[in-house]
Amino acid sequence: MNIVWHEKTKQFHLYNDTISYIMYVQPNGEMGQLYFGGKIRDKEDFLYLSYRNFRPMVPGCGFDETFSMELNRQEYPGFGTTDLGTSAYQIECENGNRVSAFKYESHTIYSGKKALDGLPSTYAGEDDAMSLDVTLYDAAADVRMVLTYTIYNTLAVVTRSVRFVNCGKKQVVLNKALSACVDLPDQNYEWMQFSGAWARERKPIVRKIECGVVSIESKRGGSSPNQNPFIIVKRPNTDEFSGEAIGMSFVYSGNFVALADADTYGRLRLLMGIHPETFRWPLQENETFTTPEVIIAYSENGMNNLSQTYHDLYNNYLVRGNWKKRPRPILLNNWEATFMDFDEDKIVKIATKGKEAGVELFVLDDGWFGKRDDDYAGLGDWVENPKKLPNGMKGLAKKINELGLEFGFWIEPEMVNPDSDLYREHPDWAFAVPGIEPALGRHQYVLDFSKDEVVDYIYEMLYKVIDGANIAYIKWDMNRTLTDVFSHGIPGELQGCVYHKYVLGVYKLYTKLISAFPDILFESCSSGGARFDAGMMYYAPQAWCSDNTDGADRVRIQYGTSYGYPLSSIGAHVSAVPNQQTGRTVSIDFRANVACFGTFGYELDLNHLDDQEFERVKEQIKFMKEYREFLQYGKFYRLLSPYESDLAAWMVVSPDEKKALVGVYTMRSMVNSVDGRIRLQGLDESALYCIGEQSYYGDELMKAGLVLNGKNAPSFTKETDYSSCLIHLIKK
Ligand code: GLA
Repeated sequence: MNIVWHEKTKQFHLYNDTISYIMYVQPNGEMGQLYFGGKIRDKEDFLYLSYRNFRPMVPGCGFDETFSMELNRQEYPGFGTTDLGTSAYQIECENGNRVSAFKYESHTIYSGKKALDGLPSTYAGEDDAMSLDVTLYDAAADVRMVLTYTIYNTLAVVTRSVRFVNCGKKQVVLNKALSACVDLPDQNYEWMQFSGAWARERKPIVRKIECGVVSIESKRGGSSPNQNPFIIVKRPNTDEFSGEAIGMSFVYSGNFVALADADTYGRLRLLMGIHPETFRWPLQENETFTTPEVIIAYSENGMNNLSQTYHDLYNNYLVRGNWKKRPRPILLNNWEATFMDFDEDKIVKIATKGKEAGVELFVLDDGWFGKRDDDYAGLGDWVENPKKLPNGMKGLAKKINELGLEFGFWIEPEMVNPDSDLYREHPDWAFAVPGIEPALGRHQYVLDFSKDEVVDYIYEMLYKVIDGANIAYIKWDMNRTLTDVFSHGIPGELQGCVYHKYVLGVYKLYTKLISAFPDILFESCSSGGARFDAGMMYYAPQAWCSDNTDGADRVRIQYGTSYGYPLSSIGAHVSAVPNQQTGRTVSIDFRANVACFGTFGYELDLNHLDDQEFERVKEQIKFMKEYREFLQYGKFYRLLSPYESDLAAWMVVSPDEKKALVGVYTMRSMVNSVDGRIRLQGLDESALYCIGEQSYYGDELMKAGLVLNGKNAPSFTKETDYSSCLIHLIKK
């Protein structure tokens, strides 16, 4: 890994063993991009990769009309001089000017990586990465800009963020401040996004890139279930195991935009950052603004490889603290078992059965506080309900601990019900625009987390509940989208900051809680998987993947989620049947065979299972205890997509290639079915692997494939709807 500055040609080359990122100071002083892709040998000059020619109707620079930024690749494009494509930022000066020209001033290269103030970001030790700060100056606005890059040593990853500093005496306004731009030299790519809605999150959608703009966004306050802040562009022939792909992931949990602008001269511009439509940030003298980070990853070996890069990065350089790289506890959550209808005895009874089954952590979900008997009341009143918890959280935690289980509970700190003491005391703490009746979402309003006093108040309430009780885990929920965003009592000039400040408030509360209680494992949640993003993962190492716990649907949702996020982060539980959301019944084995490719737990009353099922649960937990570390931190491969066929499969291989587990799921049976074979991945070609009584070489299994049906098959998938099996491979 290295970052080289070629003084003579004014070119930077960031490279490691797999990737190169090359940029330069253009003839007009602004930063241009020359190359991003597979590693190329370093040399002094790559200028031939830029474009110099005169074209009619293309604005050329005053000093030389054969140079136009529009025809070249830009690092962080503004709008309005010679680049008229989609811009990455916009600064409004006091005189109304919105055209900028940031010229190179200086740069610093250093080992490691700096943290971003108040924002989540990936981190790195001195030997893990190198970073570069390029400082630019715009005379029109009297603003400096620092473009920050980090390249990792062993991962095909470059991270980027931008800092603006107002150096002048006059106010400037940032109307747009995206985080990163990748300008590619051709447009022969497909765009891939992960879209959905509540209970059907992160479905991969692929479309061809054509001339024009493709974009996804969230203006819902959170990253949203509708679009995920993660995209891939790939060559049309790229599949899971071969071909080029570039990913961009946003380390942020609020409004975002991600877009591809394919112009008419062959340039493909990728941009990602905070959504400008809900953003306006004034900067006074010496004030700074730092954008969140974008993680750009590259693969020349298909999308699986790209996903594995993100998985490795997040497990090693995003998740922090005591839960980094730790196998996740097997938990039992009472939500689908009781909803809000419980008392201490009922909870202890459910937990007792959990202990008998081998569960390690009991989670008390929604309903323990204020007057919370349904979802019309109580949010905001983070005080134990004495009828349900007569001995408080402390007392219940003690009882659960005495059973031999860890204990955790649910919160939704960003919200308030109109029917709550908090709202009655502080109605102005909820977002509402004067003169407009605020929208309700699940009968609740959103608290104005852009205000420190609100965040601090909620922190104090939660602190009292947690402190002294033995709390091992917290599930932090967020069950509505933001609307009517207006912060009471602040100057009108600052209303455009509120969406972003809200997200910073959420991060602040997380930081305070984690600092006070570093041992607690946080699981983020937002009506299931509506805030599943890399920003959240910095604070909460795992996230509830979806409120849809139907085994069959979960294959799809977890499959889609795996493109961007590691198994260690994917909250996956076995719930009761018929499934609460879909009404579908799939076997307890199927449900567990899906959930074990995640953080694993149960979301039902185990007392309601018959003896046979309960025995299966015990076996599942025993298996998961043995396999979870390998499953959560091994190499994950998608093999057959449930979006493309009725048979789905994925597998995990241990880092030493000694062990592998393949999950196969028949979504719909086929009478007299075709021959089923799956080509496995990631094995040692020359090693013999045992599958049951039989053994096979790695190359056979990867090239000829694993035979799934017929008499000679090592493992049978039953030919009924929703049958599944786990196939164990052990190296001899
Ligand atoms: C959301 C979560 C669920 C559950 C409920 C509680 O829907 O996704 O898991 O915690 O809230 O109200």
